[in-house]
Amino acid sequence: MMTSIQKESLVCRVSGKKLQQTLNLGIQPLGNGFLSQRDFKKEYFYPMATGFCSESKMFQLLEQPAPEKMFHDQYAFYSSSSRHMQNHFEKFADAVLESRCLATADPFVVELGCNDGILIKNFAARGIRHLGIEPSQNVAAEAQKHGVRTISEFFGAALAEKILKTDGPADVFLAANVMCHIPDILGVAQGINNLLKPRGVLIFEDPYLGAMVEKASYDQIYDEHVFLFSAHSIQYLFGKVGMELIDLLPQNTHGGSMRYVLAKKGIFPPTPAVDQLMAKEKLQGLDRAEGFAEFRRRVEKSKGDLVALLQELKKQGKKVCGYAATSKSTTILNYCKIGPDLVEYICDTTPIKQGKYSPGMHIPIQPYEHFQKNPPDYAILFAWNHSEEIMAKEKEYMARGGRWITHVPEVRVIA
Ligand code: TYD
Repeated sequence: MMTSIQKESLVCRVSGKKLQQTLNLGIQPLGNGFLSQRDFKKEYFYPMATGFCSESKMFQLLEQPAPEKMFHDQYAFYSSSSRHMQNHFEKFADAVLESRCLATADPFVVELGCNDGILIKNFAARGIRHLGIEPSQNVAAEAQKHGVRTISEFFGAALAEKILKTDGPADVFLAANVMCHIPDILGVAQGINNLLKPRGVLIFEDPYLGAMVEKASYDQIYDEHVFLFSAHSIQYLFGKVGMELIDLLPQNTHGGSMRYVLAKKGIFPPTPAVDQLMAKEKLQGLDRAEGFAEFRRRVEKSKGDLVALLQELKKQGKKVCGYAATSKSTTILNYCKIGPDLVEYICDTTPIKQGKYSPGMHIPIQPYEHFQKNPPDYAILFAWNHSEEIMAKEKEYMARGGRWITHVPEVRVIA
């Protein structure tokens, strides 16, 4: 069933200029739309393709489902499901504290999209004045359990105004894996600029366009990721509200992310990392639509290779499962049209996903224990971004001859 699509999005959400199509990933369901059998008939699908704006340099979805469809009181993604991510966010908080951005009288830190509190709880625990903003009520409730003060609203200039009245301006505005979710990103940028103190700093991280192109990891593209940012696009976006990049720090999370540090124009001198990354992006072709031709070719090849491999394994009578029901897996399965005939089940540690079916292709989601009791011959590493953590955990599976299939940076079997 196809319902409301935001049609205005055929033009760039930041510059208003026409988008050039870069990739077509076919008809897709919601990335996190794990569902019960009784809901199959009313499942939501939309055409998923990406476009590039030569003015703003924003790589973005051409069309996106309405935000209420994706972020609600049944939102299936809990940030704290990975130990590695918990460590990452502890270090992120330490870096903010060490930077002395909060070395003011009565500092105030705001986080947009605080999910279950994985980052901001590190400030709450130190008694620092804080506010988490999280529109999905179920995960916001989890943050509150960790002692985080939260509000469940969508952020923009209006909410910034409200926070200014209740709490005053912020020293630090944080966001992790959320800015790339927001279609009205210009409204958010405006709100952030209004909410920050004159020497306030915005620090956020998101999956990085350059890493996706390098690894052909097209599964970063799904409904929630309306944008995949680069230094070029972030500089353009925040330039529009009077802010600029002052530092860039690559991260290995989510298969390759970037931490962007911004401040009001002219307040802090940018580090050399800013010019260096801008130059690298030009070489990589991230500043022009034609630069994505090779990426598209690799994505198409990846699809052909993965389907051929799974069909061959089926012929050989091998048992194949998916490891981790990630939103990324939804893109792969629906783009490649891989269903339960090729992948028997997907195991996942998130209780809310277990007993349900994968969006679109309807592969059953089983608890992790099912994988231990019914180990397959091959497991597709859908959480390839957590491969270090998973490989360390699954030594026994490998010792018994279990193999992995990955598609990053190309389709191959890991024995
Ligand atoms: P992530 O890559 O963060 O997912 P997404 O593509 O949705 O951003 O992985 C989180 C999901 O993977 C979550 O459903 C839990 C699952 N998972 C496991 O089942 N086992 C694991 O060992 C790990 C690391 C994740």
